[in-house]
Order: sequence, then structure tokens, then C-alpha cells
Amino acid sequence: MASKPVVLVVGSTGMLGIKIISALLDKGATVVKAMVRPGSDSKKENHQKIEQMKAQGAIIVEADLMKPETMLPICEGVDVVVSAVGNNQETVPGQKNLIDVAKQQGVKRFIPSDYSVDYRKIDYGDNDNLDMRKEVFSYLLQSGLEYTLILNGAFMDNIGTPYTAQLDLDNGVFAYWGDGETLLDFTTTDDTAKYVAEAVSDPDLANTALEVAGEVLSNKQLLAAYEEATGKKLQVKHLGSVAELKAWIEQKRASANSPIEYIPQQYEYVMVSGKGKLDNIQNSRYPHIKPLTVRQYLQQTDL
Ligand SMILES: NC(=O)c1ccc[n+]([C@@H]2O[C@H](COP(=O)([O-])OP(=O)(O)OC[C@H]3O[C@@H](n4cnc5c(N)ncnc54)[C@H](OP(=O)(O)O)[C@@H]3O)[C@@H](O)[C@H]2O)c1
Repeated sequence: MASKPVVLVVGSTGMLGIKIISALLDKGATVVKAMVRPGSDSKKENHQKIEQMKAQGAIIVEADLMKPETMLPICEGVDVVVSAVGNNQETVPGQKNLIDVAKQQGVKRFIPSDYSVDYRKIDYGDNDNLDMRKEVFSYLLQSGLEYTLILNGAFMDNIGTPYTAQLDLDNGVFAYWGDGETLLDFTTTDDTAKYVAEAVSDPDLANTALEVAGEVLSNKQLLAAYEEATGKKLQVKHLGSVAELKAWIEQKRASANSPIEYIPQQYEYVMVSGKGKLDNIQNSRYPHIKPLTVRQYLQQTDL
């Protein structure tokens, strides 16, 4: 009997990483290694997650993205690396280290930490966080490693957080830019993790992206879904055109004390401009996955 491919998940204690571990183990087609930072188990917030991953059958391995020598032994014999680290100034060089080590150890496929809109189509400068993904992807291309990108639009779980800027639930306001008709892609984190578990060993996904979406809907449809699912009415404000949103971001960026003052609007920009829209949604590759729609998600969430 052929042995199962070995998948290494980096960022396994993260919000998405631990869901990817569960989805891989539920599918049962791979051996799953969960990379955690040295000493992670002694941190209260990670101890329980590590125990959960062990109980589910994951092999816990310790290494640090910033110390490539620690990743060398744990990448030995690995077929697929799935990165689910957060995107920040540290993890850009960290993921480049991981790509170097994966290449050195003969890893067959690398999945970078994307889980986003199609950042390949947007321009540098459109979104600070997506710029970091573009930089890592460019490095991955140059490495010659086989890759698969996972593109799922915005996480539905962000509805009700500042990252879905149009829904200002604290103030009961739906404030949108653009015409409200442009289509936007949303997927839950649970469903994204299930698609990752399929993508790791799908031979047709070599050097391409798996694009998926739980639901594709416009801002006006998002408002209707919210009001229908929650029974709450929001006050609607039209803030301006897409070009005015871009100008707002540039002005804010020049004076902001922190990127959080404009990053949510940068995500909104890449979505309402249509620049980051997924053009090739392939949910149908895996018909057994029935991703949640926005209404279904909101009906089971207390917002
Ligand atoms: N499309 C969307 O709407 C959307 C929304 C949110 C996130 N995302 C994306 O989803 C991905 C995962 O994000 P997340 O929120 O799940 O991340 P997260 O919760 O911040 O988790 C980050 C993980 O990376 C690990 N890590 C960080 N630095 C490391 C290092 N030097 N060495 C080893 N491990 C390190 C952390 O370990 P520790 O536990 O030890 O810190 C943690 O396990 C990211 O690409 C993010 O941008 C997309």
C-alpha cells in the first residue's frame, strides 16, 4: 500500500492554521505535521490548541520561520508545505526562508499564506497587506517550486469586524463606496480550510490557484442578506465613488498613525473596484463541500 503524503502546516496555532489541521485530519488522506514555535506549548493560549492537534492525530514539530536551520530537519520527507502564518513584516522574510528550506529538502508543493482576493491582479500600493503576498508569491515563482494558491475572497467571519468596513454594526450603519452592484467574494474560514485539505493533493492544481467562494454577492445584496438574516435594519449611507475611495485612502495613508486607520478601506477598495475579483471560481471541483452562504453564516452567528 502506498504511504500517505506528508503535509506540514506552518502557523498551526493560528486562527486559520488550526482549522486546516482539523480539515486535513478529517479527510484522512495525509500524514499531518503541525509546526509550532519552540516554547509554544508553554504559552497558555497555545497549549490547549497543541493538545487538541495531538489528540486529533497531528505530529507536533518545533521550528521558527526566522531560523531556517530549525526548519531543515522538520521539512525532511515533507511532500506539501501549507503556510498559514499571518502576513506581516516578519513573516515575509520568514516565508521566504520556508520556501528556501522547502526547495532544499525536495518538497513537492508549496501553498503560501494567501487565503484572499486575487492579489495577482491588483497593483503594488493598492493594499499594504496584499503587497506582502505579492512579494512572497514572486519569490515562490522564482524558486521554481510547484505551488498552489488558495483564493477565497474575504473571510465571511470578518463580517461584523472592522475588516468589513461597510457594515458598521456598532452604529447601525451600512456605509458603502462605489455603485453597490460590483460582485464580491466571501467564504468562511471553516470552508476555506476544507478546500485547502482538497488542494494539497489535487494533481490538477499544480502551479495554479484554487479559487472558491461560499457566496458571490454585491454590497446591496450583502445589506439585504444581513437585514433578512438578523431582522435588523441598518441606516444606509453612500460614501462616494470608487475613485473617491482611492483618494480617501491615499489621503489617510499620508497622515495615519497606524495602518489600521486605512487597511480595512484598502480591502474594500480591491473588492468594490473589482480588481481582486475571483474570475475562475471552482467550488464544483469538490461537490461534497457545501460552503455556507452569507445568509446561512449570519443565521448561525450572533451579530
Ligand atoms: N481573506 C481574508 O479576509 C482574511 C482575513 C484574515 C486573515 N487572512 C489570512 O489568513 C492567513 C492566516 O491568518 P490568521 O489570522 O489565521 O493568522 P494568525 O492567527 O495571526 O496566526 C499566525 C500563525 O503564524 C505563526 N507564526 C508567526 N510567526 C512565526 C514564526 N516566526 N515562526 C513560526 N510560526 C510563526 C503563529 O505562531 P504563534 O501562535 O506562536 O504566534 C501562528 O500560528 C493569513 O495569510 C492572513 O492574511 C485572510
